Amino acid sequence: MNTVEVKNGIHWVGVVDWAIRDFHGYVTQRGSTYNNYLILDDEPTVLDSVHHEFIDQGIDNIKSLVDMSTVKHIVVNHIEPDHAGGLFEFVTLMPQAKIYCTKKAVEALERMFDISSWDIQTVKTGDSISTGHKTLIFLETPMLHWPDSMMTYVKEDKVLISQDGFGQHLASTERFDDELIKCSSMSELEDAVWDYYANILMPFGSIITRKLQEVKDLGLEIDIIAPDHGIIWRAHPEKVLQMYEDMAAGKCDERITIIYDTMWHSTEKMVTPLVAGIRDEGMDCKVVKLRATPSSIAVKEFWRSRGTLIGSPTLNNTLFPPVGDFMFTLKGLRPRNRIVSAFGSYGWAGGAVKEIIDMCKDLKLEVMEPGVGAKYRATPEEEAACYEFARAFARKTREYHKQF
Ligand code: FEO
Repeated sequence: MNTVEVKNGIHWVGVVDWAIRDFHGYVTQRGSTYNNYLILDDEPTVLDSVHHEFIDQGIDNIKSLVDMSTVKHIVVNHIEPDHAGGLFEFVTLMPQAKIYCTKKAVEALERMFDISSWDIQTVKTGDSISTGHKTLIFLETPMLHWPDSMMTYVKEDKVLISQDGFGQHLASTERFDDELIKCSSMSELEDAVWDYYANILMPFGSIITRKLQEVKDLGLEIDIIAPDHGIIWRAHPEKVLQMYEDMAAGKCDERITIIYDTMWHSTEKMVTPLVAGIRDEGMDCKVVKLRATPSSIAVKEFWRSRGTLIGSPTLNNTLFPPVGDFMFTLKGLRPRNRIVSAFGSYGWAGGAVKEIIDMCKDLKLEVMEPGVGAKYRATPEEEAACYEFARAFARKTREYHKQF
């Protein structure tokens, strides 16, 4: 049985992608799922499709529950290909179906498919349709995380089908949060939420805050949150709602992460006194070596920590490329409410530390200047300077953390 009933005729008909490890550059160490849903009511309704790679399985799942030719409605919550990739086949096999999506979605769909024969109805926040015994209310969520994005609320069952929002790249045999927590842990699930938010939703914190308020203002009671990736929140929907509210408001752990790379272990040698200084100030510390760690994990650790020390040797008067890649990723993610500083070794000319500091200032992060450097290989005096620098950074991080 490849389908699971979520609640009262709302079925998960998605697929599990056990093998994916590179999701458009985002390293998905836990795999992922492409969740879509079928509502069995007087007028059968499908919400989203699946990644095209899994179209056969996606079709078989729906066929196992309903004659596809009888489907009356297809809701397109999001047109990114991991969810809309199978849409053309779905529409072809469901010729009676009217398609519901935002106006922005139509602009994109007509670039992706020949939609000239599709029966499309654009919808906006508050619009609704009936499937017989259920009312589907649409909620536009533009830039969460694409312009076309929306969510669908099933009023009678208090189920929010939330597309990418509240999702996790997490392949598992369990479909629900309580099942996963039982065989794994809540902290594993929380980590997957941090990971997803950091890598996909970090730039959109202010929009998330606004949308969460809008949901509260609409008075929507939510019993279940069913995202398009990962597990469905039926036991603890309030948990992920609170996590999103907190993350969007800038909350994170009072700790420091050291993110660095090194050419000849000189920058790496500075990490030991840095860790000692942070720990001696009583603060937790994580260490991430970039070439040994998927970039998406480095981004997550950055996002979970109030403070980050970024380390790079100077190469050709600029950053060591793996550190440059990380800084480029951060630029796109537009982090807020974090404090940073920099460290690194150099030979005959420095530059990397100042460049990191300047980039972080451009990103409008809180910055402790001027960072710390070491020529060729840190002397005992330079190691002592790293230790004192780290202690000062930990104290500053603790003070800054109080604002949130
Ligand atoms: Fe999972 Fe924005 O697609």
